[in-house]
Amino acid sequence: MGNILVVDDDRNLLELLKIRLESAGYEVIAVLKEEDAIEGAKNQAFDLAIVDLQLLRQDGISLMEELHLILPEMPVLILTAYGSIENAVEAMKKGAYSYLTKPFDPQDLLFQIERALENRRLNMEIKRLKGLLEERYGFTNIVARSEKMKKVLEMVSHIAKTESTVYIHGESGTGKELIAKAIYLASERKHKSFVAINCAALPEPLLESKLFGHEKGAFTGAIRSAKGLFAQAHGGTIFLDEIGDMSLAIQAKLLRVLQERQFYPVGSEQLVEVDVRVIVATNKNLENQVKQGLFREDLFYRIHVIPIHLPPLRDRKEDIPLLVEHFLEKFGQQMKKEMKGLTPMAMQRLMLHDWPGNVRELENTIEYAVAMTHQDTIAENFILQNKNVAISEEPLKPLKEAKDSYEKTYLIHLLETCGGNVSKAAKLAGKYRADFYDLLKKHGLKSEDFKKSQ
Ligand SMILES: Nc1ncnc2c1ncn2[C@@H]1O[C@H](COP(=O)(O)OP(=O)(O)OP(=O)(O)O)[C@@H](O)[C@H]1O
Ligand SMILES: [Mg+2]
Repeated sequence: MGNILVVDDDRNLLELLKIRLESAGYEVIAVLKEEDAIEGAKNQAFDLAIVDLQLLRQDGISLMEELHLILPEMPVLILTAYGSIENAVEAMKKGAYSYLTKPFDPQDLLFQIERALENRRLNMEIKRLKGLLEERYGFTNIVARSEKMKKVLEMVSHIAKTESTVYIHGESGTGKELIAKAIYLASERKHKSFVAINCAALPEPLLESKLFGHEKGAFTGAIRSAKGLFAQAHGGTIFLDEIGDMSLAIQAKLLRVLQERQFYPVGSEQLVEVDVRVIVATNKNLENQVKQGLFREDLFYRIHVIPIHLPPLRDRKEDIPLLVEHFLEKFGQQMKKEMKGLTPMAMQRLMLHDWPGNVRELENTIEYAVAMTHQDTIAENFILQNKNVAISEEPLKPLKEAKDSYEKTYLIHLLETCGGNVSKAAKLAGKYRADFYDLLKKHGLKSEDFKKSQ
């Protein structure tokens, strides 16, 4: 559950907090004095600290900073008296996770604690994964702010080390290949080869000899024998992209490789044994293909071992601002232009678009804008000009769904504009803080994800 350090000079409140948190299942160390807090943090790695802003000798912010020197990853919740919001905002700028105004609602307290712990857990997991990737390859190019994508990365880090076949499913341009490479880089096989092939790009006979190799003279033009990709990937990983486009004949051969790890090259009677990890990707609904008899059911179950679904970009619009930043940097560097960002109107256009081509379409949009602009801030006339952004290409949704979808887009844009500052955002939206939090919760958004310091 987690152990929590509570620091408050109000003995009664301290006692109350301890009882409440303990009954919620947390382990609690409650101290009155700053030096005891520091001492405690030196002896024990707390998962979270709750610190009163007005302490006896020190203010809570400087105590928080000292605690962060010892435990840099520990989220801190600040308790403030009513009317000292400015100090609380100051605390957040200096690295507090969030704050609560006294007297606070016990439900709210537990809710914030849970969120802080969940967020910390996810961040640590992502850091671990990124560390793994960076360690060898300086691989920092996966952007994940939405809960959905964080879960994907968490999943990647869990399954990378296994030998199981991974099935990546998602619309075109959602990042399937990127994730396949991430799995490979985080796996034990990272020192061995990674071989990728797009099964839709080659006609059947060519694909077969490409995958399994062929003997000299196996077909016209086979003037020498050739090793196939499966043999090249021996000891490593093979990535079969667009597996839904594979013909039934090759599917049968692939099934055998997956079952027995062996195959015959085209025109050869020499059985080849391989040790490969298989990652497949598809943008088709393979269950439907199976029903229509276009995809072997037995093969489907063989490959559908660890499914990873990459959500379309329109369902995780909170990733857009970070992706934009990422691509601005990438293309800015490539084109030797110092890019600062987008105008609010330009960002709004991006947020309102439905992105049928997903991340790839966004990437192309930013590449185009960076190439076209003469300024360091991209204006809206460089964004999606040839597309009618307001009119969706999707079929009309029921009103409630359309409203919800607009509401989420609006909130993301608002949080982005306010740098994750809830008070400011709530004020701009004309909502009470509590109602605003409810709205965020409804859409699975977290204000802290929009803080600039991230
Ligand atoms: N989360 C992300 N962070 C950063 N870049 C991303 C992310 N997702 C996708 N991209 C980039 O978007 C582009 C498309 O990704 P990728 O080729 O992996 O998609 P795909 O699902 O394989 O697409 P397709 O179905 O068209 O083959 C790539 O340039 C990739 O680097
Ligand atoms: Mg691809």
